Amino acid sequence: MEWCVSMPKIELHAHLNGSIRDSTLLKLARELGEKGAINFPDVEHVILKNDRSFKEVFKLFDLIHILTTDHKIVTRMTKEVIEDFADDNVVYLELRTTPKNNDSKGMSKRSYMEAVLEGIRSVNSVEVDLCHKLKEDTSAHSHTVDDICNNKTRRKKIYVGLLLSIDRRETTEAAIETVKLALEMRDLGVVGIDLSGNPVIGEWLTFLPALEFAKEQGLPITLHCGEVPNPDEIRAMLNFLPRRIGHACCFEDDEWNLLKRLKIPVEICLTSNIITETIASVDVHHFADLYKSNHPLILCTDDCGVFSTSISAEYALASSTFGIGKREMFEMNDRAIDFIFACDRVKQELKTMFASGLSELLNL
Ligand code: IMP
Ligand code: ZN
Repeated sequence: MEWCVSMPKIELHAHLNGSIRDSTLLKLARELGEKGAINFPDVEHVILKNDRSFKEVFKLFDLIHILTTDHKIVTRMTKEVIEDFADDNVVYLELRTTPKNNDSKGMSKRSYMEAVLEGIRSVNSVEVDLCHKLKEDTSAHSHTVDDICNNKTRRKKIYVGLLLSIDRRETTEAAIETVKLALEMRDLGVVGIDLSGNPVIGEWLTFLPALEFAKEQGLPITLHCGEVPNPDEIRAMLNFLPRRIGHACCFEDDEWNLLKRLKIPVEICLTSNIITETIASVDVHHFADLYKSNHPLILCTDDCGVFSTSISAEYALASSTFGIGKREMFEMNDRAIDFIFACDRVKQELKTMFASGLSELLNL
C-alpha cells in the first residue's frame, strides 16, 4: 500500500459529489439537521453504511445532492477533493461532475461550474495546472517523479481536467445545454463530456444528439457503459466510438469482441463494481481478462467517498488479487497518458515525468 501511495497516478474516472469526504458530508448533514431540514439520525445511518446495493447508491447520491447544492459548498467540496487526490499522489486528475440548476439557490449550470472552478482556484496546498486549451502551445518545464513524490525541489503539482457529465435523467435539450456549456468552458479547464447516472433510467437515443454534437465539436467523450445487462445499448455505445468507456461489467462475448476490436480504453472501478454487486467478487472481475489481452485500461475510484476507497487502495487491491507488480502498475499509468483528454502539452509533460521516474520508484 505504501508503494502504491508513492507511485504517481492518473485518475480518469472520479465523480465530484461521489468523492466528497465522509466527514464533510456528515458535517453538512448535521447542519441541515439542526435547521430542521432533515432528520439527522436517519441520514447519518445512510452515510455511514458500508455496503450498498446499486439502488441504494443512487439514493445516496440524491441525498448528497440535497446536502451539496449550494455554491459555497460546491467550492469547498471541490477544493477538498483535489487536495485528497493530490495527497494520494495523483498527478493527473480528470474530475467529472453534473452541472446542476437549482432555482431555490439561484444556481444555474454555469454558476455551479463557476463554483467548481472557484474551488480549484482556492487549492493552495498543491500547485494546480488546469488543462485549458489556451495553454496548449506554451511549453512549460517538466517535472520528475522525484519532484512530485518527494517534494524535494518544488511544491507538489497536479494537473486537473474537468469533464461535464450528462445525467441519464436529463432530456435531450438539457444534455445539449451541458455540451454547450462544456464548449464555452474549454478555455477554463473543461476537457470532455461524460454520460452517467442510474443505468436503468433513460434511453441512449435521448442523449445521442448531444453526444454527436459534442463529437462534431471535437470534445472527447467517455460513456458509462454496461453497468447493467443491455446488449443493444452496449453495442450502440461502442459503435459510437467514444474515446473511452467506464465499467464494461455486463458484456457478453459479442460485446467483448467488439470492444477489443475497437480497442476502446476502459476505466476500471474494482471496489465500486464489488460494492454495487455489479461483479460478484474481485477475483472474477473482467480486469484480469482485459489486462491479459493487453487491452488499454486504467484503474479508477469512481466515487472514493461513497465507496470508502482511494486510488492507491485500488492499486493495492489489483496487486494482491491479480499479482500485478510495481513495474506493471507504473506502466499502466504511463500508457494511460495516451488516452487522457488533455492537450499535447500536458501529455508531453506527463510522459517526461514518467520516463524519468521508473528506476527511482523501483528503488523506493
Ligand atoms: P456529480 O456529477 O458530481 O453530482 O457526482 C455524482 C453523480 O455521478 C451521480 O448522481 C451519478 O449521476 C453519477 N455517478 C456516480 N457514480 C456512478 C456510477 O457508478 N454509475 C453511474 N453514474 C454514477
Ligand atoms: Zn462512474
